[in-house]
Amino acid sequence: MTAVNHLTDRNAFLLRGDGFAYALAVTPDGDLRHLHWGGPLEPDDVTGLLADDPREFGSNTWSSPRAHTEELVAHGGRRLDESALKVEFADGVRALDLAYRSHTISADQLTVRLADRHYPFAAELHYRVRGGALERWTMLVNDGDAPVVLDRAYSATWGLPWQPRWEATWLAGMYATETQVTRRPLGAGRLVLESRRGIPGHAAQPWLALDAGAGDEAGAVWSVAVAWSGSWRLAAELAHDGRLHVTAGVNDFDLRHPLAPGTSWTTPVTVGVYASAGHDDLTDRWHAYERRFVVPRPDVVRPVLYNGWEATFFDVRPESQLELARRAAGLGAELFVIDDGWFAGRKDESAGVGDWTPDPTAFPDGLQPLADEVHALGMRFGVWVEPEAVSPDSDLFRAHPDWIYQWPTRPRTLARQTHMLALSRPDVRTHLVEALNALLSSAPIDALKWDLNRPLTEASDGVGNGSVWLGHVEGFYEVLDRVRARHPDVWIESCASGGGRADLGVMARTEWVWPSDNTDALERLTIQHGYTYAHSPHTMMAWVTDSPTYLTKREIPLRFRFHSAMTGLLGIGGNLADWPQSALAEAAEYVAQYKQVRATVQYGVMRRLSGAPDDVTALSYRSPSGHQVAVFAFAPSVRHLRRTVQLRLRGLDPAAVYVDGATGTRYSGALLMHHGLRVGLVGDYASELVVLDRA
Ligand code: DGJ
Repeated sequence: MTAVNHLTDRNAFLLRGDGFAYALAVTPDGDLRHLHWGGPLEPDDVTGLLADDPREFGSNTWSSPRAHTEELVAHGGRRLDESALKVEFADGVRALDLAYRSHTISADQLTVRLADRHYPFAAELHYRVRGGALERWTMLVNDGDAPVVLDRAYSATWGLPWQPRWEATWLAGMYATETQVTRRPLGAGRLVLESRRGIPGHAAQPWLALDAGAGDEAGAVWSVAVAWSGSWRLAAELAHDGRLHVTAGVNDFDLRHPLAPGTSWTTPVTVGVYASAGHDDLTDRWHAYERRFVVPRPDVVRPVLYNGWEATFFDVRPESQLELARRAAGLGAELFVIDDGWFAGRKDESAGVGDWTPDPTAFPDGLQPLADEVHALGMRFGVWVEPEAVSPDSDLFRAHPDWIYQWPTRPRTLARQTHMLALSRPDVRTHLVEALNALLSSAPIDALKWDLNRPLTEASDGVGNGSVWLGHVEGFYEVLDRVRARHPDVWIESCASGGGRADLGVMARTEWVWPSDNTDALERLTIQHGYTYAHSPHTMMAWVTDSPTYLTKREIPLRFRFHSAMTGLLGIGGNLADWPQSALAEAAEYVAQYKQVRATVQYGVMRRLSGAPDDVTALSYRSPSGHQVAVFAFAPSVRHLRRTVQLRLRGLDPAAVYVDGATGTRYSGALLMHHGLRVGLVGDYASELVVLDRA
């Protein structure tokens, strides 16, 4: 099966990936018509798709053509539904009229070039089949000798097939309560998910799933994500007759991007994943896509991390860090990261961001001595940075007050007492690359935690204005890419006040994500539950911190805290100096147990067996080979009638025999799936980890 077929007799294209097909055609008038996105089809089926005439009656009702029948809705004519592209030509005309010009096919990629029927302006539509996912993006080309202003430039229009009803699932939230699964029926109108903050933000993930009432194990689901680390927008527009299209890409909020003569701009990638067998199937496809095609070093097992933020906050001194490092190493940690507070001028939030040199009092000889000690303990060494921000009280700001986003006649907005560096500017990008290279060369640093604790405001950098929303993210990517190229062995964690930047664009450039500042193990279960709809546990860092946690003041036993963090990338963030020996010994056992199952957790097939809003949260992970199954169960408060739960596992081999290593009990896969695994949960904050090995 080839990924991309051109059916020359019908002037149509059929794209086929793992479990899905996508079809489009050029009409006799030269328009590009969307035919199908969904389950697999054969080339012969395209004849039937073409016969399904999408013309509708009602000159005063519908956009023409209907938006769900177009590959890219370009504003102009009678296109009154949500459009993907809107430009203004130099003569003031604000309507497009695109027609097919040519196409190219190479392996798993199709490019279709559309050009305006009057103006020298082209839109190249790109398609790439990636396993069970389809990537789409658009390149906009100004071939003329006058500027064209892009007012709206989404990556794609996704047309969905008709369904009698639609339900949307998305991951909403706020600071410290990210990725809460939200599910609502769609009514006629528009569901808009977006960020206007210059980062993806906490309010929603750039991810949306749509189905007609699918469950975990059955039902077709369509989903779309935007691989963009800035302001994004997903708009699902449902007409009263059940026709639905999704517009996905960079948010047009405050956007005004002039395309100079002879230049082009390429939108970010938007990814479409179709699943025929419910949300389990959809989750498997997203996880596989991220691991195979997105994250760097996908095959490297992620280390057990220690991060000192909640232990010492800004009070970072070598003696106390070393004491934490010794204890962390004793528990089995493999990477030790010093968080905010290690650099010159940083005693609290008020100063220092921008000057990435160690505090001369605390670290008179730089970071090398501490890094060496950490290495001698058998761990890697990492540091926290916030490269895109600058404190007004910093040497960098004093030297370059013009390097921030600002309007000359307006007050500058401080957030967490910083400004935002204008990474849209080449000189600022170069400075940051040099500053980070200098830091990484100053000591044997193996990892960075890259944070950002403010939104972008005053979108002007003194050079371009409405383009800054694009330029900042492009600058962020350029700096990350250049630093990674220079220091290829350094691991990077993405963070923006917790989970404010956890999108596919940043995931292509970082090893993992910090999903939330909320380290309360109970709250974390709902955050993690939602996170795994869109992302693999292989990117999901989770720390065990002190009880009570500083945010929620909730007290939770160590066992529950560890089990909760062990369902992703295990990290430890408590003040180990205060932990009694008994807690350290218990913690070391959990770390050792995690290392027994982590390949399964990080690379396996995950099933959410129950979760928010249920009072029991349970998950299972099956190793890729199928030889190990790890089952986690949690209950914050167990009522007598719930002292045991019967967890019906999913995705096992019914004929195989699985053995519980702790008890020696043998179960068939069929029994575990159809009858269930009995797990005892007793008392408050009860949790269990059951590890089954295939006999
Ligand atoms: C916000 C992050 O989410 C925290 O983990 C910590 O790194 C602080 N910033 C440090 O300022």
